[in-house]
Amino acid sequence: MPLRSGVRTSASAETSGDGVPRTAAYPFAERTSLLEGSEVRALFAVASRPEVVSLAGGMPFVSALPTELITDAMNRVVHDRGSQALQYGSGQGRPELREQILDVMALEGIRAHADDIVVTTGSQHALDLVSRLFLDPGDVVLAEGPSYVTAIVVFRSYQADVDHVPMDEHGIVPEALREHITALKTQGRRIKLLYTVPNFSNPAGVTLSAARREEVLAIAKEHDILVLEDNPYGLLYFDAPPPSALRSLPETRDGVVYLGTFSKTLAPGFRVGWAVAPKAIREKLLLANEAAILSPSMFTQLIISEYLTTSDWKGQIATFRDIYRERRDAMLDALETNLPGLSWTRPDGGFYVWLTLPEGINSKEMLPRAVENLVAYTPGTAFYANGDGADFIRLAFCYPEPERVREGIVRLADTISAEHGMDSVAAMQDRTAS
Ligand SMILES: Cc1ncc(COP(=O)(O)O)c(C=O)c1O
Repeated sequence: MPLRSGVRTSASAETSGDGVPRTAAYPFAERTSLLEGSEVRALFAVASRPEVVSLAGGMPFVSALPTELITDAMNRVVHDRGSQALQYGSGQGRPELREQILDVMALEGIRAHADDIVVTTGSQHALDLVSRLFLDPGDVVLAEGPSYVTAIVVFRSYQADVDHVPMDEHGIVPEALREHITALKTQGRRIKLLYTVPNFSNPAGVTLSAARREEVLAIAKEHDILVLEDNPYGLLYFDAPPPSALRSLPETRDGVVYLGTFSKTLAPGFRVGWAVAPKAIREKLLLANEAAILSPSMFTQLIISEYLTTSDWKGQIATFRDIYRERRDAMLDALETNLPGLSWTRPDGGFYVWLTLPEGINSKEMLPRAVENLVAYTPGTAFYANGDGADFIRLAFCYPEPERVREGIVRLADTISAEHGMDSVAAMQDRTAS
């Protein structure tokens, strides 16, 4: 199975002949050539115009939060503990918040100790810290195909290669995982991490089944591969909770680093997430955290602690579930009505649907036409390190109101039909010419 090396070899306008990227006067470090802005970033700027229905970004619907509760929590923190809130704090995070995080994780079957937790600046920061600890240039990270785009960016920024293991509607396929490991080992590659978003994955909206969780963990253990379990969406289920977290199985505890966040169950603006890691890893994580940021924000940690102490936070998560369920239903319903011949995933939670396009349509090429039709999505290519994914698009139902979700799907269906028509014409012309 061919792996694309993350390291560029050819010289370009921004690189010198030796492949080292340069600015006019100052040479960047070699690894920065792997920090690429999204190709569709410019389009997304256009897509943020109010007349465009954006099914592109996975932005939580924070307007559903009770603003007065957050304001009260913030005011109390500033008034009662201002000098603490505005000061540096512990590199591991506040003990009180770490205790509260135990209560949050207990909802997903995870039992840990507050000492096991390192508070980070969102789980994105934890992804970076774990990568910093484990990835050397040329190492391999196994990841679901498709995988969360900004995790791929982080792994590649440490000059690791991402190898995508196929998934189906039950998550990553264990037989495929075994095959990939065997092939990579035969090539002499060093596999460092298995990255997974087991619940309502970003971007596929798929959940790893309970049976597969055990199997995947057993395979990882057999091959000494550390599992990086990224779980921002687990509490946002629509009917029944997902199977217990990988980290919840006692026998595999030492082989899993678990990432959690308040970004989806509260708000991403606080930038508070956490990692739970076995002792030896956690000690290094803490040092890496201190090296990167000295300490996570005392201000936002205190506000979250206050919010968790004084509000019905579980009730608020239930409110978010209701809101997202209604939007998921609106999207699935509109897809059935407007794109009956196509297939898509049916998420039981989270933010995303993964749609398969008719053959011959390229999701990236179609995007400008979609934006012209006032709807935006994320092309599937964003979620693969190897250029795959052109046949797919990710549709996020989390942010627009249900009616806007429906309208967005109507516009998308129009765009796909037009694209399909165009393609048929092109194919006909090709046939006539030959
Ligand atoms: C799978 C996954 N991991 C991590 C993150 C980053 O979250 P945070 O806001 O905690 O940094 C996201 C955000 O969308 C995500 O979808």
